[in-house]
Amino acid sequence: MNAAYSTDGQYIHPSILNADFLALGAELEKIGTADSVHVDVMDNHFVPNLTFGASMVEQIVRRSAIPVDAHLMIEDADREAPVFAEAGASSVTFHLEAAAAPIRLARELRRKNAQVGVALRPATPVEPLLDVIGEFDMLLIMTVEPGFGGQSFLETMLPKIRRARRAISAANLEVSIQVDGGVSRETIERCAAAGANVFVAGSAIYRAQNAADEISALRELASAHRAH
Ligand code: DX5
Ligand code: ZN
Repeated sequence: MNAAYSTDGQYIHPSILNADFLALGAELEKIGTADSVHVDVMDNHFVPNLTFGASMVEQIVRRSAIPVDAHLMIEDADREAPVFAEAGASSVTFHLEAAAAPIRLARELRRKNAQVGVALRPATPVEPLLDVIGEFDMLLIMTVEPGFGGQSFLETMLPKIRRARRAISAANLEVSIQVDGGVSRETIERCAAAGANVFVAGSAIYRAQNAADEISALRELASAHRAH
């Protein structure tokens, strides 16, 4: 199983939420130079939108040249998330708001060979999580309300990223920080400078003339403003 990321690198994860679902094979080929493909799983309950299930994730895993980073925006993560690790996602991220026993779930996902991410909606504070953050490979700080692509970046999340990065470094832990929502050439530098190292970009990449060029432009901007 490919590792999706490690904490000392910087990674660009295109989100296929705004791709052409009827041409998904070709849409995956466009982003072959990225580090992982970010797949947004939505159940129409945790968020008001419906996308892919585990069988679709399994097909994407089979078709994709790069690892699959599954972002689960679903209720009852404790019961549903392990299925996505079994589907072959290299990394499985569930929302803290949707998990009854996040530590038990993280351990179960790791046993199923997935890297584990824990995600926070913008209004969920990061502080209660910091004591147990070492249980996870990645912290996803949402920079929009989850549910849809193409929304504008919430600047107010930058201090949250900074506080999380400071706490993770102070504890000498290896935990990546992912940002998701409104990440583009205009916002990626500030995310990197605040301490994020995994960058999800949906519309910025799929609405660009050339996805590969956009991926390298984002990568350069992130590494020029790397915080650690
Ligand atoms: C939103 C999703 C994102 C979305 C990002 O709920 O989690 O991954 O695709 O799209 P952009 O980059 O357009 O904000
Ligand atoms: Zn996402």
